[in-house]
Amino acid sequence: MFESLVRFVREQYATREFIPLHAPVFAGRERELVLETIDSTFVSSVGAFVDRFEREVAAYVGAPRAVATVNGTAALHVALLLAGVKPGDVVVTQSLTFVATCNAIAYCSAEPAFVDVDRRTLGLSPQALEGWLDAAARLDADGTCRLRQDGRAVRACVPMHTFGHPADLDGLLDVCRRWNLVLVEDAAESLGSLYRGRHTGTVGRLGTLSFNGNKILTTGGGGMVLADEALGARAKHLTTTAKQPHAYEFVHDEVGFNYRLPNLNAALGCAQLEQLDRFVDAKRALAARYAAFLCGSDLQFVAEPAGCRSNYWLNAVLCADRAQRDALLKATNDAGVMTRPVWQPMTRLPMFRHCVRGELPNAEWLEARVVNLPSSVPPGAPEDAR
Ligand SMILES: Cc1ncc(COP(=O)(O)O)c(C=O)c1O
Repeated sequence: MFESLVRFVREQYATREFIPLHAPVFAGRERELVLETIDSTFVSSVGAFVDRFEREVAAYVGAPRAVATVNGTAALHVALLLAGVKPGDVVVTQSLTFVATCNAIAYCSAEPAFVDVDRRTLGLSPQALEGWLDAAARLDADGTCRLRQDGRAVRACVPMHTFGHPADLDGLLDVCRRWNLVLVEDAAESLGSLYRGRHTGTVGRLGTLSFNGNKILTTGGGGMVLADEALGARAKHLTTTAKQPHAYEFVHDEVGFNYRLPNLNAALGCAQLEQLDRFVDAKRALAARYAAFLCGSDLQFVAEPAGCRSNYWLNAVLCADRAQRDALLKATNDAGVMTRPVWQPMTRLPMFRHCVRGELPNAEWLEARVVNLPSSVPPGAPEDAR
């Protein structure tokens, strides 16, 4: 089985060379726009491409405002501050995520509380969230959600759209409304994915994207905060050293961050954005071929949740058990086809081991079984996306 999978992947990429998990594709005007910034000398914190990239991403996803940042972790940090997260607070998230989600919570001097994921969406489970809140939290008369055990405020909830598959946002919105939690979507992996027709990252109060080199669209390194006009203006202020506009004076009215995306990176992003629809189509077509190939095998392809359109950032399979997972990882990597297990649950990491948590059976079950398969846009993909 594993040899035929290796053969199948090699056919998709038409190469006998090493096949990475996800490589960027620069098939459009990347060189032209990046050279334009170099010729203009505006490579850093001033320049037209940042504004253009922000406008175009906001229009693409249908957000009132998009604010570009140096990376997705910085975007999450700022989004959590805008959500009102304060030192000593608790922020609910999923234990099966990339560590950056939890690091951003820690940057606010807050602590993550871990709730289980849904096996179908791989994202935060509304049922698990509700069950955990019922058992571990109370709502004060002033509407603040607090942990019963020590009275800490539970301020926000951060689901993550794992591998591009949208989490159950309606269910999560409903629970968050009843418990007065601000919903912040970590949409780092899901640019181009739709939840019931709406772009992920635009359904909650705030959303964040990543444009790291391994994402569907890259700026080299970069991120974005998606917000309404008012929070977007605050995000812009906070990410640009909290400087008030002035022709020449340096007036900073609070401690801000140097989180602004450089113009050079934004130029790359503008060129990539012109190809995003084709990247999504190509990745969805690849996912359909994986699904057809794996149908009837003992590896179960992870398909998009009902009612959603996934960008299939990373294709994934579920193995029967950990032994099969390990065998698959070894066979494919030995053959020069890169595959990877899912992240270790955050509750196993030393800095988050002590954090409050609900029961996490699905995260543990998935960790033992999930393997990601090569997912770059293949050569000769629809409409020559490469
Ligand atoms: C789920 C998730 N959250 C946050 C991030 C952080 O993004 P960045 O690497 O741009 O800081 C990433 C990706 O790297 C991610 O996959």
